[in-house]
Amino acid sequence: MREIESIDLTPWQKEVFKIFIEHPSDSVITVKAKRQVGKSICLQQIALYHTLNRPKSSCMIVSPTINQSRRLFKELTDLLYGSGVIAKQNNTLLELTFCNGSSIFMKSAEQGDNLRGFNCTLLILDEAAFINDDIFTLLQPSTDVNHADIILFSTPMFENGFFYECYMKGLSHVKSYHSIDWGKFDTSRFLSKERLEQYRKEVPKQRFQTEYLGEFISSNDAGVFQNYLSCILDKPPVPSDKHLIKAGIDWAADGQDRTVCTIMTAGSCHVLDILILDGQDHTSTDTIKQIGDFLLHWQVDEVMVEKNSIGAVYKDMLVKEIGDIVSIRTFNTSNNSKRDIIESLAQGFLKKTLTIPNNDVLLSELATYKVEKTGKNGNITYNAQRGFHDDTIMSLAIAYKLCKENNTIRIL
Ligand SMILES: Nc1ncnc2c1ncn2[C@@H]1O[C@H](COP(=O)(O)OP(=O)(O)O)[C@@H](O)[C@H]1O
Ligand SMILES: [Mg+2]
Repeated sequence: MREIESIDLTPWQKEVFKIFIEHPSDSVITVKAKRQVGKSICLQQIALYHTLNRPKSSCMIVSPTINQSRRLFKELTDLLYGSGVIAKQNNTLLELTFCNGSSIFMKSAEQGDNLRGFNCTLLILDEAAFINDDIFTLLQPSTDVNHADIILFSTPMFENGFFYECYMKGLSHVKSYHSIDWGKFDTSRFLSKERLEQYRKEVPKQRFQTEYLGEFISSNDAGVFQNYLSCILDKPPVPSDKHLIKAGIDWAADGQDRTVCTIMTAGSCHVLDILILDGQDHTSTDTIKQIGDFLLHWQVDEVMVEKNSIGAVYKDMLVKEIGDIVSIRTFNTSNNSKRDIIESLAQGFLKKTLTIPNNDVLLSELATYKVEKTGKNGNITYNAQRGFHDDTIMSLAIAYKLCKENNTIRIL
């Protein structure tokens, strides 16, 4: 039998331990922290302390995704390997049974309704701000019978949802709520000040604020695009014959929406023109005809079009119309692919690596675009504010993706 490898806890991890040991039961302890400063390690140590010191206890650890649960489980089993404290290990269900009758089991928010009906003596949530409120509501009864404590660890997200509410209750000294802000500790041994400054320049604003500063995003501060006003060119430069011209298209998904085509110079990334067609006023044949004429007018070499749902039909029609003259590529919109092109566009504005015309529609969309937490795991998504469009932004983001690529000069 070997000893369980002991870890020297950092001062901020010790603080959580201290509160965990000293507080009365039935408490909610909330830990707000930056990324990569030892949240997962700390929660593993607390889970172990609880299970080893309290025979027949059961600790449930919930992560946003099953992959995160698996990673935690592996870290914990690696730590305990050969120690002789484990009686049974189930790598499929992610359950550890200890020789003293205690258990640790890991679940993920992805399991949804299947999280109902468990009992535990300690409930720990990792990256709790990325878990939806309804999952938390579903989990809470598992602590009732045993008056179990709840510990929430997370990098913060928005100023709403249970993680934020619990954190605020702790700050306001509401009975049984305790909050710890790891932002108060000097964690520069994990990330130097120089690297932090580098990330400040490179990482999208909201992501930097939450992940690197460990601060909540207020609803006033959820705007995605900054600095775009300084990227306006009233008269874009006239491209030479040598320059490749590219375009991005976002199709109208229904009558409320608009089809938008953005024309941009490859490499230099100047927006030359934007065509906006109201879905209500144009039949699909009419839309394709107008888009085709617009692309030919600008002598576009390559166009990238959204291909989801109705997009596939429009794309086939466009291929028939101009496919022998213009190269047509497709863009598949998913949460991840959308986030990538939107963050890349936001960086483009910050670094001034593109220019846009003084177009009212585009400017109002840029001003109202917001970062949101949606989806079953509460991941970050970017969306137009309710009642606003985002078609010119999507079309621009697709065009910008194409134009940043290498081939910028036409081979004659
Ligand atoms: N007390 C500690 N001593 C040494 N290394 C630590 C300690 N706590 C965390 N780490 C290391 O820091 C890194 C980030 O820890 P992790 O718990 O995954 O952070 P987070 O969950 O906050 O993103 C890991 O490589 C981990 O091994
Ligand atoms: Mg972690």
